[in-house]
Amino acid sequence: DVAPMDERFEDSFGIGAAVEPFQLEGESAEVLKYHYNSIVAENAMKPLYIAPEEGEYFWEDADQIVNFAKENDMYLRYHTLVWHSQIADWFFLDEEGNPMVEEEDPEKREENKQLLLDRMRDYIKTVVLRYKDDVDAWDVVNEVVDDGGGLRESAWYQITGTDYIKVAFETAREYAGEDAMLYINDYNNEVDSVKRDDFYNLVKELLEDGVPIDGVGLQSHIQLNWPSIEETREAIQMYSDLGLDVQITELDVSIYGWPPSGEYKTEDEIPDSILEEQANRYRDLFSLYEEMDDAISNVTFWGIADNHTWLDDRAKEYSGDGRGKDAPFAFDTQYNVKPAYFAIMGLKDPR
Ligand code: G3I
Repeated sequence: DVAPMDERFEDSFGIGAAVEPFQLEGESAEVLKYHYNSIVAENAMKPLYIAPEEGEYFWEDADQIVNFAKENDMYLRYHTLVWHSQIADWFFLDEEGNPMVEEEDPEKREENKQLLLDRMRDYIKTVVLRYKDDVDAWDVVNEVVDDGGGLRESAWYQITGTDYIKVAFETAREYAGEDAMLYINDYNNEVDSVKRDDFYNLVKELLEDGVPIDGVGLQSHIQLNWPSIEETREAIQMYSDLGLDVQITELDVSIYGWPPSGEYKTEDEIPDSILEEQANRYRDLFSLYEEMDDAISNVTFWGIADNHTWLDDRAKEYSGDGRGKDAPFAFDTQYNVKPAYFAIMGLKDPR
């Protein structure tokens, strides 16, 4: 009998969660409907799943998510049309089946580039035409800037330079229409760093070039003390000053630093003091988001509750013993509210 999280922010921004199709029934679905008014696919709409083989499309999982959003009147984010990860190899093979990145002949390189751009156009057109009436926000490109700044040396970049970014947005605009909201999404693009500067300059140049970008996605995979609220505020302001909408697209607050120690093996081992620290962190974040709610249209968590988070894989990977539990959200593994929930709601934890 706690208050719905999304209602608290009704006048400010949408509250979303990333989902897998299996979470669309049972208790996870109830929590989703009660506390959130927006969803995004954690994996099901990525190129690898939608286009596993050339000329073959797999819609089942994506359709389930789209239908759930429709049935429950939820805002729908599409993640993601173009990404270097989770994409099948066939995109980057030439007609003879050779990797395009290895081609040295300049003439053949140009041919390959056009072939890849054609495939991308085709792919974007097919997806966008299927879902354009259902999707409210599109992640058109994801993670195109490298951690150390500069453009990510992905196959996309090696074969087409920056053309793929431009063509991706233009194609999305062409088929999704003038009213569609098109985003460039990345991680650590709020952190005061070379990456942020380069990300900002790239977006600015693309806009000056007439590329149809409507917004910036801040993934926000963050930690208890990093990045600072100040640099986050500064980043939101910078992007907003470019005339762009800002969305928080993949929010989670890990209980670990980097790399994650994974020292807590189960939820029960996590000290209350850490959950309190996390609550304070969420209080500060949501105060900032509310303060800047004219700039921000949506805040999406990268999961519903602590029973399903990609951060568990990270904790296991780095812990040294293959075990480790993270707990990044407002709800615990049983969907009970955590201190973070009350902090987000601006309430005192009554317990
Ligand atoms: O589907 C296969 C399954 O058939 C196989 O048995 C199983 C064995 O490991 O793997 C399954 O694939 C996994 C997939 O998630 C679906 O569950 C992959 O191994 C796993 O690597 C993949 O992880 C996803 C990750 O993106 C891939 O980079 C995470 O769930 C997803 O949360 C994460 O999301 C990304 C965003 O898209 C972009 N921003 C960062 C964010 C976190 O990494």
